[in-house]
Amino acid sequence: MTDTPRGLLITLEGGEGAGKTTAQTFIHDWLVAEGRSVTTTREPGGTQLAEGIRDMLLDKRGDMAPPTELLLMFAARAENIAKIIEPALAKGHDVLCDRFTDASRAYQGAGRQLGLSSVDALAEWVHPTLRPDLTLLLDVPVAVGMERVGKRGAALNRFEMADVEFFERVRQGYLDQATREPDRFVVIDATQSIDTVQSKIKDALLELVVRRPHG
Ligand code: TYD
Repeated sequence: MTDTPRGLLITLEGGEGAGKTTAQTFIHDWLVAEGRSVTTTREPGGTQLAEGIRDMLLDKRGDMAPPTELLLMFAARAENIAKIIEPALAKGHDVLCDRFTDASRAYQGAGRQLGLSSVDALAEWVHPTLRPDLTLLLDVPVAVGMERVGKRGAALNRFEMADVEFFERVRQGYLDQATREPDRFVVIDATQSIDTVQSKIKDALLELVVRRPHG
């Protein structure tokens, strides 16, 4: 009897207004067209409990100490990993996760200035062996992202209400992480046209599935 090969974990990252939602649909459809099974999830969220934690985290009326915020992100992540990500990978599905631990590095580590060591310590505890096979970072200048979010017209959540300096630190946090792990990250300039962004995403996916058909 042969074991089912594990699926690949692909994470999607970026600041506010980077276009993750459009990218996620594109990636999902591309993988399915390749004949692969795909499970999509998001963070914070994914399960009923983790979505409840998400509501607390995003509630704009909530005032939250940065360590609480970091711990809640990891509480939600532990649920998502145990109930969705690991079971899906084990049955051979690729998992497409809208944000993962790199978001905690960027938003809490850099943005909230908690530092990388606290995030890395939690990552080591919560998912010591789980690491994305590919992380697509959609990068946009903060002003561009904020303008896009403003145009959506939807009510802003607690993160979207933060100041420009916060988002500058988040952006730099992501770019620093990409520099630290160039084998895992593909940084895409998300100010380009949707067609260009999607063709770069496709190149990254092709390379991944050719190089490592399974996780
Ligand atoms: P997201 O669902 O990506 O919202 P949007 O599509 O509006 O960008 O993420 C919700 C927010 O949670 C987002 O502002 C980033 C934040 N976040 C963190 O601060 N740390 C984390 O670890 C994660 C996963 C998200």
